[in-house]
Amino acid sequence: MRFDILTIFPELFTSPLDEGILRRARQAGQISVNLHNIRDWATDKHSSTDDRPFGGGEGMVMKPEPLSACLRDVQAGCQGKVILLSPRGKTFTQQTAERLSVEDCGKLVLVCGRYEGVDERFSRLHVDQELSIGDYILTGGELAAMVVVDAVTRLLPGVLGCPDSAARDTFSRGLLKHGQYTRPREFCGLSVPEALLSGDHGRIEEYRFLESVRETLHRRPAMLASIEWSTNEIKQLKKGGLYQDVQRVMREHGC
Ligand SMILES: C[S@@+](CC[C@H](N)C(=O)[O-])C[C@H]1O[C@@H](n2cnc3c(N)ncnc32)[C@H](O)[C@@H]1O
Repeated sequence: MRFDILTIFPELFTSPLDEGILRRARQAGQISVNLHNIRDWATDKHSSTDDRPFGGGEGMVMKPEPLSACLRDVQAGCQGKVILLSPRGKTFTQQTAERLSVEDCGKLVLVCGRYEGVDERFSRLHVDQELSIGDYILTGGELAAMVVVDAVTRLLPGVLGCPDSAARDTFSRGLLKHGQYTRPREFCGLSVPEALLSGDHGRIEEYRFLESVRETLHRRPAMLASIEWSTNEIKQLKKGGLYQDVQRVMREHGC
């Protein structure tokens, strides 16, 4: 997967891209991240990328010409999907990351706004999708773009050491992840749950499944509304005493 990022602060990306899984994915050629400084496409003597808003008001707006010129060069040869990071965009979720990770063109162009945002005409002419990473306002789109790069990259084949681990993450199955434990067996008077020490894989799986359901019931009950349970899962829910709670919550959320 190739990511092209349009920004006026390319240095903001260096450290996150140079550590951990993202660094390894870049080294292995599983992703490439190309940073483009929009300022390099500005044409006036001050290399301006922003100007005052028509109609007056606070702040500055990113000019459409440097952004469009930069995008034209980035798209030369191979056209990617153009995403503008924007608080008014569709909320970026795990499902969005999954869809983007299998984009046919294998190239995502992420445009980072600053100031009051980008000129509306750039968005209308060139942007395929606006994405928000949540209902709050950041100073710029760079952190949001980094979130997209990170979440998409870990879904690409071969990026995570264990191919199963993404499939077992929170949100992948519509359930929150169960609590996890490592050594020591006792910590500050709290023990590791006995089922996890049993060595019985069937029992461990069942315990983890029921814990995931409990966590979801407790923290994000609305998530349960869209789950289709298998016969075996229903059996486990009944055995674990959770079936009635799950049914009640699903009814409450319109199922
Ligand atoms: C200070 S914000 C502009 C906010 C804008 N005045 C508004 O009220 O919607 C500057 C830039 O940060 C990025 N940004 C801010 N919050 C974001 C969010 N929640 N998700 C994605 N991008 C965001 C966008 O690129 C935006 O153009």
